[in-house]
Amino acid sequence: MTLASSPRSLLTVTDLDRAEFVEMLDLAAELKAAKASGREQRTLTGKNIALVFQKDSTRTRCAFEVAAYDQGAHVTYLGPSGSHFGQEESVADTARVLGAMFDGIEFRGFAQSTVEEMSRHAGVPVWNGLTDEWHPTQMLADVLTMRECRPGEVGAISFCFLGDGRSNVARSLLATGALLGMDVRIVAPRELWPPDSLVADAQRHSLASGARVMVTDDVDAGLLGADFVYTDVWVSMGEAESQWEHRVPLLLPYRVTADAMARTGRTDTRFMHCLPAVHDATTAVGRRVCERFGLVGAEVTDDVFGSAASVVFQQAENRMHTIKALLVTALGR
Ligand code: CP
Ligand code: NVA
Repeated sequence: MTLASSPRSLLTVTDLDRAEFVEMLDLAAELKAAKASGREQRTLTGKNIALVFQKDSTRTRCAFEVAAYDQGAHVTYLGPSGSHFGQEESVADTARVLGAMFDGIEFRGFAQSTVEEMSRHAGVPVWNGLTDEWHPTQMLADVLTMRECRPGEVGAISFCFLGDGRSNVARSLLATGALLGMDVRIVAPRELWPPDSLVADAQRHSLASGARVMVTDDVDAGLLGADFVYTDVWVSMGEAESQWEHRVPLLLPYRVTADAMARTGRTDTRFMHCLPAVHDATTAVGRRVCERFGLVGAEVTDDVFGSAASVVFQQAENRMHTIKALLVTALGR
């Protein structure tokens, strides 16, 4: 259950090279099978892990907690309030304190520079549980899910992301697909394209990996033949509520509907979403979208979200198995 190489921190997607990424997925698959068959071995007994969240979370927090408990480790959760972090105590001082008590730190926050600063001062592995720019642990779960649906070489997989191409998830998908040699299509209105520097990085990685990278506002070109159609919320955590007024008209042509799924030209394309999703009007956000814009659901319609093509809950479960692989790789023995 140990990797040939042992990446310890994970601050952004490209902290792993292609071989390490695939090895991590192999280990996650092994751990998933071991848990299902009651054969799981504990490799983190006696370890302590800090979970620092400046933003809310369901999946990431629960994935880290269950993964740690399954492997015999303990966790301490520090939420958006309740500690001195960010108010009375600096990032560097908090990192030194936590690094002296814990064997590893998960951090979810706003600026990417904060998780990087934490890593510089902690002296223990730091794992990025989402920043405004990156969501690397999500990528491990997403590619494991893609591989489960389309077994074989990851480089043979194609996916089309439709929506806010600047979101942490879209940026991460672009970087991941380029790293792993996939057929990556990021489809968004021009003002929501990922930054040019990230597209250039992806193109540079694609020279080595053989990836095909497309960033376009042409929905049909992006969808055609895609194995997976992926979307994310139109307004991310930390963005102003007022963004909805601008984003809804801008992103409506990029909504994942049954018609968009059909425009892949395939009947076996799967739908993916990192979650949480605005797919109906049963949540507070969904109700506001319905009242303000007359839309039931936003980035994806409920029929697609709940369809047989949707693998969103498989993705959510895989957050735990992949985060477990990350913890075992960094701290297991
Ligand atoms: N996908 C994801 O990161 O979900 P949470 O915000 O619930 O952690
Ligand atoms: N882009 C979303 C992802 C949530 C997992 C956000 O940052 O809110």
